[in-house]
Amino acid sequence: MTVHFIGAGPGAADLITLRGRDLIAACSVCLYAGSLVPEEILAHCPKGANLVNTAPMDLDAIVAECQAANAAGRDVARLHSGDLSIWSAMGEQIRALRAANIPISVTPGVPSFAAAAAALETELTLPGLAQSVILTRTPGRASSMPAGETLSNFAATGATLAIHLSVGNLDNIVADLTPAYGHDCSVAVVYRASWPDQQVIRTNLAHLKADVSKNITRTALILVGPALAGEGFNESCLYASEYDRRYRPQTAESPWSGWRHGDD
Ligand SMILES: C[S@@+](CC[C@H](N)C(=O)[O-])C[C@H]1O[C@@H](n2cnc3c(N)ncnc32)[C@H](O)[C@@H]1O
Repeated sequence: MTVHFIGAGPGAADLITLRGRDLIAACSVCLYAGSLVPEEILAHCPKGANLVNTAPMDLDAIVAECQAANAAGRDVARLHSGDLSIWSAMGEQIRALRAANIPISVTPGVPSFAAAAAALETELTLPGLAQSVILTRTPGRASSMPAGETLSNFAATGATLAIHLSVGNLDNIVADLTPAYGHDCSVAVVYRASWPDQQVIRTNLAHLKADVSKNITRTALILVGPALAGEGFNESCLYASEYDRRYRPQTAESPWSGWRHGDD
């Protein structure tokens, strides 16, 4: 028996890995975070599977469900939105399951920041503008931030910021980011990326508050940084015709000359 943690993706039912889909189909118990995991994904569960929405449950109750499945020898598909490596509460569940000697596996999913970038049809690391993406949030009712992880510290890097769980905190975002990025720095807000009711708002720091509808109160990503403008960037070396590289040696003397696919 195993509890399989599976990233269920950002919303669209077909944005799940084949491995995730097949594991769901093989488990007779499915625990899913009902607030963000789409119902259509549950269609992959086998007929008669025990489906449990964990949105109203606490950690002890979730672990108790896993222990009951363990006692019955039933595999569990544990679904969380997006990917499991960020804000999934997987860490505390794994710790409790390990303490109970229950085996686990982890299958990644498409994170919401990637779905938001896809909705914007943009690359977040445009050469000359930004080469780093910072996945962050602002403090919330249930979560404080470690001392050094402030928006103004991150803003000092000039990187692309993907700010989660913070659409209710626009005043502080604007106040903390404007000194480093400037009033006219590009911002994109993507509400429910990849869901049928997805909304994309392109604006700048000066107009962010006015441009985000009062109806958008959750499930939105705020992307900030020069790369969001999508212009004024350099070409990468990757496809530059004169760039000497492993897959495209330029001369017989190139260190890559003679290299074949499959060599180290
Ligand atoms: C609890 S976190 C889950 C993050 C998730 N594990 C991931 O990989 O993206 C929830 C936050 O992620 C962001 N989010 C999740 N799904 C989203 C979507 N489809 N579109 C935009 N933002 C989303 C929002 O900022 C939301 O408040």
